[in-house]
Amino acid sequence: MAAVPKIDQEPWIDVDWTAFDPWRIQSVRHHLQDHPLLRLDELVALAQRLEAQGSVRTHSDSAKAGTPFNSAPELFPNAASSVDTLRNLANAQAWMSLLNIQKDPLYRTLVREVLDELQPEIDARDPGMSYRGGWIFVTSPRAVTPYHFDAEHNFILQVQGRKRVYVWPHDDQEVASEHARDLFHLSHERYLLRWRDAFRERAHVFDLQPGQGAYMPSTSPHMVENGDGASVTVSFTYYTDSTREKARLHAGHGALRKLGLQPPHIGQSGLSDSLGALLLKLRGDYRGKVAHACDEYAEEAA
Ligand SMILES: [Fe+2]
Repeated sequence: MAAVPKIDQEPWIDVDWTAFDPWRIQSVRHHLQDHPLLRLDELVALAQRLEAQGSVRTHSDSAKAGTPFNSAPELFPNAASSVDTLRNLANAQAWMSLLNIQKDPLYRTLVREVLDELQPEIDARDPGMSYRGGWIFVTSPRAVTPYHFDAEHNFILQVQGRKRVYVWPHDDQEVASEHARDLFHLSHERYLLRWRDAFRERAHVFDLQPGQGAYMPSTSPHMVENGDGASVTVSFTYYTDSTREKARLHAGHGALRKLGLQPPHIGQSGLSDSLGALLLKLRGDYRGKVAHACDEYAEEAA
């Protein structure tokens, strides 16, 4: 397949821009469920290409909401290949993510087309879009994505099957402490994120079917429960100036915490924020990360 055909003149993702706030969770609609690149045969071919690059993440459906997200593939391995998992998805008892699909030349066209359409409206409210990425999640019936958060802003869109997506605000301190966010931005560790069933009551809940989706800001905790059938979901993600700035402040505070200090929330103390920035500079292990996040696409060097 050489090109990504446009089905009509509608944008791939419908966003209510009058309500859009880059730091607020919001529902969206989309038209990607019939996209040729999201059909099973094309996904099988993509999975083969990405698996050869080590760009597939998978675990069995034994992982639950409280499973540590970073460790799920080691704790609950899925022994099947990505192709076998995809071809047998309804019975594979597996969760699988095709990572960084923009590394693939064909799928980079999809990421570009979808995010190019959104970028003018996003730029007007949240400038500096960079590190664009795409992710495709294929999941067996009732598989669960463990509770976690990510660094990017995220449009998550249901393509096939149904799932329930729980999302919590990026600043909800009950479900994820400031310390957990500081540590995550410093070192990508998530072990301070601890699941409790009571969190469900505080969540934005999206019961997604094909054509429906949600926008979640950077570091909005989320957890996903698949429905009774196999499911395909696609995510489009990016950083902006504001995600980079928040990440830098949190990482600085993370560095202060490593020294035994307990900084206030980011932005509350100019002194703490400056001290954190200085520490990051002295550690010398953050500069490259910030520069890397300014690339147009994620994994640019890969
Ligand atoms: Fe995620």
